Amino acid sequence: MDFIDELKNLKEQIKFNQKFNITSEYDNIVISGMGGSGIVGDIFQEKFSKKPVITVGDYGIPEFVNERTVFIGISYSGNTEETLNNVDEAMKKNAHVYAITSGGKLADRVKNSIIIPSGLQPRSALGYMLMPLFNTFDPVDDDIIKKTYDILDSMDKNHDEMRREALKIYENSYIPIIFGSRPFKSVAYRWKTQFNENSKTFAFYNYFPELNHNDTMPLKKAYRRDEYRYYVFNSDNLRIQRRIEITQEITGESFNIITAPTNEYFEKLFYLIHYADYLTYELALVREVDPTDVSTIEELKSKLS
Ligand code: PA5
Repeated sequence: MDFIDELKNLKEQIKFNQKFNITSEYDNIVISGMGGSGIVGDIFQEKFSKKPVITVGDYGIPEFVNERTVFIGISYSGNTEETLNNVDEAMKKNAHVYAITSGGKLADRVKNSIIIPSGLQPRSALGYMLMPLFNTFDPVDDDIIKKTYDILDSMDKNHDEMRREALKIYENSYIPIIFGSRPFKSVAYRWKTQFNENSKTFAFYNYFPELNHNDTMPLKKAYRRDEYRYYVFNSDNLRIQRRIEITQEITGESFNIITAPTNEYFEKLFYLIHYADYLTYELALVREVDPTDVSTIEELKSKLS
């Protein structure tokens, strides 16, 4: 599948209806994954608050993991070392272990695995990996899925705005800086990683209100201030809106505000995700780099094995 077709596949992925059948009582949820698979747990954790959720993007699991923990390993390839290590540790502690993967060693090890379609870039399979979490713990109404599908479909038909932005970044050699806010701090991080992997550029991220306690200083006083382009997610929180306004006012920086065509969480989530998909894809094209190429990451993984 071409990369552009992978991007267009996202709208189908949100209809993926698999879920875990969790019958035992549990106290907490731990989700382990790296990179394009790890972000899925972070997005879910930022939204879900009915039980404690901890995400792990590293070697090692929290000490509290026990037989009353639901532990979910997420790895698109099923062969990511850190995630396999953590799944093994969780099994030793008798946690209820589940997995989301397209196959590999993870599928072999975890009986309760949801197997998702293979052949995509891990970061292009976000919907397949995220939906089982929502379907299991916090189901989304069909009506909202349908509206989200329509938003993604219209972005697939026309993403001129993202193409223009990509050209602007390229022509000015801008370094993208993304500022999010709850419940989309993890999406700001996803933007950063999409710039890294698809466009092969550095990018940085932070979130309101935290950035008002640090990044606000270089916003006004950084070296080479004209080298940055700021993408800021609009927020429906009035205090965050005010902070966005005042931050621009006092630093003299002008933010590029990204506004979704809706205020509903799920629709907004996928609008923001897909915006970065296209922006980083278009930047790859204009830079003449292959958005699917992750050869340096692969080389590192193979040297470690
Ligand atoms: O998008 C990518 O290719 C990477 O960020 C991978 O997701 C990351 O290396 C982890 O691999 P996997 O998703 O197969 O566990």
